[in-house]
Amino acid sequence: APQISRVIQRAALLKRVSKPWVSPAVGGKALVPGSGTPEPEQSLAHKTIALLFSKRSTRTRLAAETACLHLGGRALFLGTEDIQLGVNESARDSARVIGGMCQGIFARVGEHAEIEELARHSPVPVINALSSFWHPTQILADYLTLQEHAHLFPGSSSPSSSDALPELPPLTVAYVGDSANVLHDMLVTYPRLGHALRVASPPQPQYRAPTPVWDRVVELGCDKRITWVTDPREAVHGADVVVTDTWISMGQEAEKPQRLKDFAGYQVTEKLCREGGANPDWKFLHCLPRKQDEVDDEVFYGPRSLVFSEADNRKWTIMALFDLLFGKWDKTLLQ
Ligand code: CP
Ligand code: NVA
Repeated sequence: APQISRVIQRAALLKRVSKPWVSPAVGGKALVPGSGTPEPEQSLAHKTIALLFSKRSTRTRLAAETACLHLGGRALFLGTEDIQLGVNESARDSARVIGGMCQGIFARVGEHAEIEELARHSPVPVINALSSFWHPTQILADYLTLQEHAHLFPGSSSPSSSDALPELPPLTVAYVGDSANVLHDMLVTYPRLGHALRVASPPQPQYRAPTPVWDRVVELGCDKRITWVTDPREAVHGADVVVTDTWISMGQEAEKPQRLKDFAGYQVTEKLCREGGANPDWKFLHCLPRKQDEVDDEVFYGPRSLVFSEADNRKWTIMALFDLLFGKWDKTLLQ
């Protein structure tokens, strides 16, 4: 938990310092070097980060590429069509070679075992940009977004200084949908940060967390603050925040007809949350990309939705991680 808080505080700082440079129109006037506004630290100067992506990405890739640029480094996008990995070369050899020339690896893979193999053989830190089991950089953006909107939740405390983020009161977070990578990081994070998690997924066993994920949840003692049900109305009861994700994750396209049947009734709507007794001021999060199956337009584009702040915050949180793990080599973050 202290490591998560540290990355998020760092992300908030980088956002504050960088935003005037990144978006010169913010505040109504363009900034020029030497105008007195501090520039982001160039902790990645002369460094190259390999973006090893075997699946599509909009947010994660853009966040990583633009974050590298603003920290003074270079991102090298390596898709499946670009390099030998997976066709002519093993993950073991690729990790060693890429890590011999770059200062960090940010990898989006299929099976989670693939990223473990990369990490085992890489001489430089490897960050998971999404695997079958986990999506750790997503929860950082989600949490920063909630902290930035802490004033919307009763009982939030003011920041200790003008530079600090406000603390969130203990929240009830509901997740309605598939037990996939995005939810799995919620399972191991919200309880550790003092929040209760209520999950609804269809009754079939394939929509429950896989054993290695649940073992980790239990190992961290997070299960004590998780309620898992099959009725979405029961899950959203008392919720301050409602979250969902696609019902058809990348690679599951062939299962689409069956999944649409199994998830019928799980779409997040105003009606569902009213009938389930969510907090009247509940807010909505979604990692994106979004389909209408899992959330209707009224919620997604409505005033409860924080989804585009959440998407923007992918950049600042990934920038903080790159800064701390690739820029300053703070190995305590890996422990
Ligand atoms: N949320 C997220 O990871 O989006 P991308 O797949 O576009 O990176
Ligand atoms: N669960 C989704 C998340 C996309 C960011 C997937 O794996 O496709």
